[in-house]
Amino acid sequence: EICKGVNGLDKVVLREVRGSSAEVYFYGGHVTSWKNDHGEELLFLSSKAIFKPPKAIRGGIPICFPQFGNHGNLEQHGYARNRFWSIDKDPPPFSTVSPNKAYIDLIFKPNEEDLKIWPHSYEFRLRVTLGPGGDLMLTSRIRNTDGKPFSFTFAYHTYLSVSDISEVRVEGLETLDYLDNLKDKERFTEQGDAITFESEVDKIYLATPTKIAVIDHEKKRTFVLRKDGLPDAVVWNPWEKKAKSIADFGDDEYKHMLCVEAAAVEKAITLKPGEEWKGRLELSAVPSSYRSGQ
Ligand code: BG6
Repeated sequence: EICKGVNGLDKVVLREVRGSSAEVYFYGGHVTSWKNDHGEELLFLSSKAIFKPPKAIRGGIPICFPQFGNHGNLEQHGYARNRFWSIDKDPPPFSTVSPNKAYIDLIFKPNEEDLKIWPHSYEFRLRVTLGPGGDLMLTSRIRNTDGKPFSFTFAYHTYLSVSDISEVRVEGLETLDYLDNLKDKERFTEQGDAITFESEVDKIYLATPTKIAVIDHEKKRTFVLRKDGLPDAVVWNPWEKKAKSIADFGDDEYKHMLCVEAAAVEKAITLKPGEEWKGRLELSAVPSSYRSGQ
């Protein structure tokens, strides 16, 4: 179902039979909402989000491509998140499609202006799927349609909605190496147990397991992220001071969000002419008590 969203921008609403739903804006190929079958919103979207080019939407799942953050000469997080995507009328065959899944296929191809910024032609296909249990899946396929190789970095910049950041724990990243964006990207090793939050954090965990859990104690909810083709994971929360400096972010909103981003940052992905890369993110949200081994 295609309808008008904020500022008259077109969005696609996906609904699954048991009541879960998701919303995807053509602007940015950007997932802005993911609700479970009780109608509870699972993604954070800032009350100050600006739905107007060239500003990327603050919250949901912006796509960072062809550059993550400031790891290169392009604008922060690349430009895919502030371009208009289209419906892909000729999607490639996907192995995971079943009739009861709601999904949308989008495509982005650089135009002449984009090619001046980054001189490589490609087709970027994004499928967003809402599974029967309400799981949200994003699959990106990037094909080099150029005559020369190119390299890129990438992230699904997922903003999770949490009740209170002080009550949140992340499992799956402990003891890993990370680059600290707050310390000139210096490399450190995470110490101790599961990760908790009491100040600003902006870290790129390297070569992580494919499964990461974000446990919201107050909500008794666990987000499980599964990723494929994306070795790294960025964890970001601006905390109080930085939050105040971000115009499209409420002063206290840092308490209610955590970005855990499936990413490929440390080692850029290189595609030869004709080659395709695939990167997948699967998100589920389950009551914490249901988790096996808990
Ligand atoms: C994170 C980066 O992924 O995104 C941070 O690691 C950055 O350094 C944050 O501040 C938000 O970026 P932006 O461009 O959406 O404000």
